[in-house]
Amino acid sequence: MGVIKITFKVDGMETSFEGNENKTLLDSAVENDVDAPYSCRGGACATCIGRLKTGTVNLEQNYILTDSEIDEGLIITCQAYPTSEEIYLDADDI
Ligand code: FES
Repeated sequence: MGVIKITFKVDGMETSFEGNENKTLLDSAVENDVDAPYSCRGGACATCIGRLKTGTVNLEQNYILTDSEIDEGLIITCQAYPTSEEIYLDADDI
């Protein structure tokens, strides 16, 4: 798919950067100096939770979100690989 445009909103601040489908949203965000919250990086703590407003992702591991939470757009960014060309993640709307 190539380059993916990712925007993260954290603490009211939006930051846009490029990612790719082989890297989690969290890893791309941290590499681009976004102050994205995280702890375990293993899909278990939900510190990295956010709401997907635009785009789609594939959650590799998920020990914490229910199906209905996922249906509402909640994801854990440490396990989320982008599957669309544009992503908007709102870490404040949780
Ligand atoms: S950092 Fe713990 S679930 Fe993502």
